[in-house]
Amino acid sequence: MENQVVLITGASSGIGKATAQYLMMRGFKVYGTSRKAPSCDGHTHTDPKSGGFIDMITLDVTNDTSVENAIRTVLEREGRIDVLICNAGNGIAGSVEDIPMDLAREQFETNFFGTLRVVKAVLPVMRSQGGGKIVALSSIAGVISIPYQSHYSSSKFAIEGLMEALRHEVAPFNIDVCLVEPGDTKTEFTSNRRVSESAKENSPCFERFKRSLARMEHDEQNGASPESVAKVIYKMIIKKKSPARTAVGFQYKCILFLKKILPFRVLEFVVGKLYN
Ligand SMILES: NC(=O)c1ccc[n+]([C@@H]2O[C@H](COP(=O)([O-])OP(=O)(O)OC[C@H]3O[C@@H](n4cnc5c(N)ncnc54)[C@H](OP(=O)(O)O)[C@@H]3O)[C@@H](O)[C@H]2O)c1
Repeated sequence: MENQVVLITGASSGIGKATAQYLMMRGFKVYGTSRKAPSCDGHTHTDPKSGGFIDMITLDVTNDTSVENAIRTVLEREGRIDVLICNAGNGIAGSVEDIPMDLAREQFETNFFGTLRVVKAVLPVMRSQGGGKIVALSSIAGVISIPYQSHYSSSKFAIEGLMEALRHEVAPFNIDVCLVEPGDTKTEFTSNRRVSESAKENSPCFERFKRSLARMEHDEQNGASPESVAKVIYKMIIKKKSPARTAVGFQYKCILFLKKILPFRVLEFVVGKLYN
């Protein structure tokens, strides 16, 4: 794996940053991205212990030109991209009724179309170099939909569908595609979450939304470390053929197993109790 070139979207904080550091320490040549540019261009995060560094480049997954420029930069410097980690994403919370259409579109523009945009730009590179690995960050919420996170959940359900099909399409080109599904993880995701009108007292959902949001925030801020997700991503990268989807953490693996075997109404009851 030494010197393999990795591109991670959204490496300025949370899971992306932890993964960038974890891979850098294991000898990968890591490019991380952030929208916080142009100041981040050419900057590096240096690890004082190993002396390694992560190259940070500008990338906004919602912008075609930004994606093209970022990929061109990596190719000019390295000539290849062996691993793409589609991690950039955010959350919008609120009731279906309260979230305006433009905010719903924004959620998909970042989480779903953002992932798709970067994947489409990297696929020809991986094909021409004879292979590669794509790891997409989904979520447990991409398998079990959560009230007041409907658009976030839907955007992750969409990523699951996209990657499941893509896996078939690109296998003949020696490109391996997989999904990593973290549960609650302690990152800046909580403070970066945008909330809709449901957070206002005149919303018909105000009280229930407030309780549900408090629960989400509490669970995330007491959740797993981003490093635990980084370790799972690393395991997927070093596997020649990774499983289609991998949940992070024993409890979430159990939840997904129960989803398969229990009648849906049982799951619905539990989710309702937790978040409604
Ligand atoms: N935390 C959780 O509980 C949890 C659970 C399951 C799945 N996930 C998923 O894990 C991924 C990482 O989230 P996190 O928890 O690490 O959150 P985070 O700390 O808020 O990090 C999100 C990263 O995404 C980047 N980003 C956001 N919008 C972007 C855009 N339009 N273009 C490019 N980069 C963008 C941010 O970079 P800049 O702002 O610097 O551009 C930041 O580096 C997300 O896909 C999230 O859905 C998180």
